[in-house]
Amino acid sequence: MKATARAHPNIALVKYWGKRDRVLNLPAVPSLSLTLDRYHTTTTVTWETQTDSVRLNAEAICGRPLQRVLDFMDRLWGPHRPCVHVDSKNNFPTAAGLASSSSGFAALALAGMAAAGREASKTELSILARQGSGSACRSLWGGWVSWDRGQKSDGSDSHGRPLAPQNHWDLRMVVAMIASGPKSIGSTQAMIQTEQSSRLYPGWVEAAPNDMVQATRAVLERNLPALGTVMEASTLRMHASMMSAEPSIRYWTPATLSVMERVEKLRKDGVPAWFTMDAGPNVKVLCDSTRADTVADTLRSCCEKVDVLQAGPDAFLL
Ligand code: PMV
Repeated sequence: MKATARAHPNIALVKYWGKRDRVLNLPAVPSLSLTLDRYHTTTTVTWETQTDSVRLNAEAICGRPLQRVLDFMDRLWGPHRPCVHVDSKNNFPTAAGLASSSSGFAALALAGMAAAGREASKTELSILARQGSGSACRSLWGGWVSWDRGQKSDGSDSHGRPLAPQNHWDLRMVVAMIASGPKSIGSTQAMIQTEQSSRLYPGWVEAAPNDMVQATRAVLERNLPALGTVMEASTLRMHASMMSAEPSIRYWTPATLSVMERVEKLRKDGVPAWFTMDAGPNVKVLCDSTRADTVADTLRSCCEKVDVLQAGPDAFLL
């Protein structure tokens, strides 16, 4: 009754922001992501323990975060769930806008089902992972992954789908780490606040399907300027919608803006590079493999740490 799985976080190029169903985590918009290589979450699930317990990065968790994991295990098992022990480790900062919940719930779904001795397809695991954290449904696959909005109320048509494999395109994601601490407001609460009060939210939802069409084509044709342009537009629209919520949500810091300016300057100087930000101040910059060192060197002086990553693999059992 024990299994260990590893999953890699994914960074959305076309963002998921807003839910059409809060319980099932059904998105208001479609999204598209790149799974990363060197960052990962490794999770061991053991069923039929004496009590429920969850460890994250070698520390017992309690309160809301514990309940979130146990609710997920209830959903995974169904009625009469036995007690469970979950032990999860990230080799990168947790809850800092680096998509640790995407790898976290993907690894948890995979390890939890395997430890229970249950067969599940990748699509079934993706549907399950989505209910822990929306973006986790994309981390079952490596490389380039899309997530359909879907129409059905049970969510059975809203899951990750591989768009292109890990080796499809030799790009780099340069992660400019500005702050490694936990974010000020969680993504679920921030999405609800945006949906309920932002005048720009309807415009965000309306623009997303076309962003998705442009980005999908750009990935399949390996057209970096086209992908970079739509990725930045999606990021800026998402952040504009949350900044105009009441109260306003702003994950950016002055350092975030410095990185954005540097990326724009790089582009003016002929280095093709584009930025994206999630629910945190850190910036990820998409560029060609041959330009990654130039981009990393340029960003180093204005952030804590720079990591250069590339497309990563599917989630797998260890
Ligand atoms: O999966 P969640 O609930 O942590 O939301 C993720 C939201 C963004 O990272 C900002 C965008 C995305 O598509 O991953």
